[in-house]
Amino acid sequence: AFGSKATIVVFGASGDLAKKKTFPALFGLFREGHLSSDVKIIGYARSHLEEEDFKKRISANFKNGTTEQVSAFLSKTSYIAGPYDTDEGYHRLLASIEEYESEHKLTAPERLFYLALPPSVFTTVASQLKKLLYTEKGKVRIIVEKPFGHDLESSRKLQKDLAPLFTEEELYRIDHYLGKEMVKNLLVLRFGNEFFNGTWNKNHIKSIQISFKEAFGTEGRGGYFDSIGIVRDVMQNHLLQVLTLLTMDRPVSFDPEAVRDEKVKILKAFEPIDHDDLILGQYTKSEDGSKPSYLDDDTVPKNSKCVTYAALGLQIHNERWEGVPIVMRAGKALDESKVEVRIQFKPVAKGMFKEIQRNELVIRIQPNEAIYLKINSKVPGISTETSLTDLDLTYSTRYSKDFWIPEAYEALIRDCYLGNHSNFVRDDELDVSWKLFTPLLEFIESDKSPQPELYPYGSKGPKALRQYLQKHDYVFADEG
Ligand code: BG6
Repeated sequence: AFGSKATIVVFGASGDLAKKKTFPALFGLFREGHLSSDVKIIGYARSHLEEEDFKKRISANFKNGTTEQVSAFLSKTSYIAGPYDTDEGYHRLLASIEEYESEHKLTAPERLFYLALPPSVFTTVASQLKKLLYTEKGKVRIIVEKPFGHDLESSRKLQKDLAPLFTEEELYRIDHYLGKEMVKNLLVLRFGNEFFNGTWNKNHIKSIQISFKEAFGTEGRGGYFDSIGIVRDVMQNHLLQVLTLLTMDRPVSFDPEAVRDEKVKILKAFEPIDHDDLILGQYTKSEDGSKPSYLDDDTVPKNSKCVTYAALGLQIHNERWEGVPIVMRAGKALDESKVEVRIQFKPVAKGMFKEIQRNELVIRIQPNEAIYLKINSKVPGISTETSLTDLDLTYSTRYSKDFWIPEAYEALIRDCYLGNHSNFVRDDELDVSWKLFTPLLEFIESDKSPQPELYPYGSKGPKALRQYLQKHDYVFADEG
């Protein structure tokens, strides 16, 4: 782990990600006592900003801190403006880092570099950093953010460019879903409970569904989103990570390499995604006309076929999962914001019961973390009927409000600080995930793909979904 005296440099410090996620997360850690008050934090970016303006900008998103905590944090923070492609700014940055290190007489300095940068300058900064800011004497850690390429080829190119600069040990690839509380709970839930551990396979599980819904559209980010689409934005990374944790075999321990070895293994067992078994959608104006369509965004080409909604079927070929349908679906501009997993168990034999429903386990990742299991139980009293009811672990009612559940970025920056790679993406893991998704993305972006089905902003998404889920062995409660 890093000690109490380390330098944290955030590149892209004037950008959106740094403002909304990185600095608020650093502050959150500081507020909770997980970041020593001796660390030094430097923001670096091209924009010329007065230090005061920079501090105002980042602290606008700080949560739950007292004025004293905010000013204590800001007193550790400074800003340096400079170019990404020439040495000059890096020299000033280095001078500032070295001043701090010699003041504290650090002979084995620890430097954490957070690259909150767009892909266009990513490799430039990485190589400048290696040339001018790297230290052989101490420890260096680099946090990098998605997109990790655009497809298999560009991802491999990016990894190839980074490989000579930093070791895999030094690199921390963030997929912020891995920092979410409920996602971190998945392996404990599965392998720490024999009830789940013993039934977690094709003999007991009928279908698996992962769904991601957002109640807002691209809202001005359309120009960026248009070349990305929903599949690349959240499915190839965030949802696939969740699915991997749900389906992988038991690792020998929580050791990061043991966990990631199993993740890679299961990813290799996925069947290529079937291009004829998809729902693709794009949102139109809301029914009352108050919310814009995707194409209303001025930065989006008028004939764009960009997919803002997708549902796809996945299959895993191994002993555990052969034949179990898995549906992954994600959409923007829907009726609610929610991310959850639904696992339906096989029905019990009818015999005793005229009608009996399936067990269903729901793992709600956000909002309001919860795990609930639908079980059949006798209706209390003189009735002999059965009804489906919930065994319910809703975090907000079960755990004290004083319990600090770190935000995803807080959890991940802390892990990096501690040198724990478990919740970061390894290079081979990234490679298999692109292998799985690249053919699908090429199909969606080719002339062969169908026109996306239109759905109104604020609706449940394309109409075809219900039938699609039924086809993949999901049974709705109203069907019995
Ligand atoms: C990001 C995507 O990676 O994840 C966004 O680029 C998306 O489009 C976001 O909104 C979702 O993250 P969260 O934590 O809000 O569910």
